[in-house]
Amino acid sequence: MSDSGVPTITLNNGVTIPGIGLGTWQSPADQVTQAVAFAIKEAGYRHIDCAWAYGNEKAVGEGIRASGVPRSEIFITSKLWSTWHSRVEECLDQTLENLGTDYLDLYLIHWPVPLNPKGNHPLFPTLPSGKRDVDQEWDLKDTWRQMEAVSVKGKVKSIGVSNFSEAKLEEILPTATVKPVVDQIELHVYNPQHKLLEYLKSKGIVAQAYSPLGSSNSPLLKDETIAEIAKKHGVEPADVLLGYLLLKDIVILPKSVTPARIASNLTGAVSASNKLDATDIEQLDGLAANGKQKRFITPPWPVDLGFENWPKLA
Ligand SMILES: NC(=O)c1ccc[n+]([C@@H]2O[C@H](COP(=O)([O-])OP(=O)(O)OC[C@H]3O[C@@H](n4cnc5c(N)ncnc54)[C@H](OP(=O)(O)O)[C@@H]3O)[C@@H](O)[C@H]2O)c1
Repeated sequence: MSDSGVPTITLNNGVTIPGIGLGTWQSPADQVTQAVAFAIKEAGYRHIDCAWAYGNEKAVGEGIRASGVPRSEIFITSKLWSTWHSRVEECLDQTLENLGTDYLDLYLIHWPVPLNPKGNHPLFPTLPSGKRDVDQEWDLKDTWRQMEAVSVKGKVKSIGVSNFSEAKLEEILPTATVKPVVDQIELHVYNPQHKLLEYLKSKGIVAQAYSPLGSSNSPLLKDETIAEIAKKHGVEPADVLLGYLLLKDIVILPKSVTPARIASNLTGAVSASNKLDATDIEQLDGLAANGKQKRFITPPWPVDLGFENWPKLA
């Protein structure tokens, strides 16, 4: 546990990760520097979740430096974008330069979907049909081999995956020489992914929850059950959503550029994780199965990702 009361979790390679990280997706570049500096300097965050595809890594790096906290005390994650599966080190080098650091604590494959690196768009290449231009020839196992190579070189301390179902993990695990330490997936009370969590546990892979609050304009913050549980414990709905995940040893990555929320998400998550009782947890565990199952992040990949409850794509 850190000074701020945030629990740390030990990964399968012995590295420890702070259980709460600041999300940075959709954080505008002109706001994220201040948000990151505030989070680290004032609110006690020691973990920042970034991605090449978010287009704001330079501004995030400025925020990390502006905090005045040494690099060695901050856990930085970034992600390999889909158009770079065949060029892992090149994408990583861009991220390192953007962030102004010479190593990452954790590097993830952002999606198990290799996109055409020579397509008609640097992030989202499409075919004439309008469908995403997937690189059908590329083997995910080769992406993982390149991830292993950058970790052996020391450019990243740990490697993991994101948006991997059990089926996608089974594509890489049999030939992996370095095991993924985490799988970063959409996890919240409306998308609890109980089966996948069991599988990850059985493999020693830590789950990281993205969109733990339900992303932008979240209906979760207005859910009646959440409001009742929050009232019962004298906390905010956001605290219940975050605390519920944290107490399950899931790493949570709430995003905010609003200083008051950045601060309360950390203190509130820790406090709620200690207050929620067995009845609350049972109720929260069952919300999705009782008719509220919903995903908020569903890019239209024209491939089967192997997830339960993934919307049927054209
Ligand atoms: N691996 C992936 O594919 C993937 C996908 C999605 C997200 N992620 C990661 O996970 C992070 C979190 O997910 P997310 O950004 O989708 O959503 P989120 O953290 O669930 O929700 C963020 C939204 O909630 C608002 N908010 C934050 N704290 C609040 C509070 N206490 N009360 C009310 N509203 C609050 C934020 O507004 P303000 O900022 O205006 O305060 C923002 O609109 C991302 O930023 C990213 O780092 C990864």
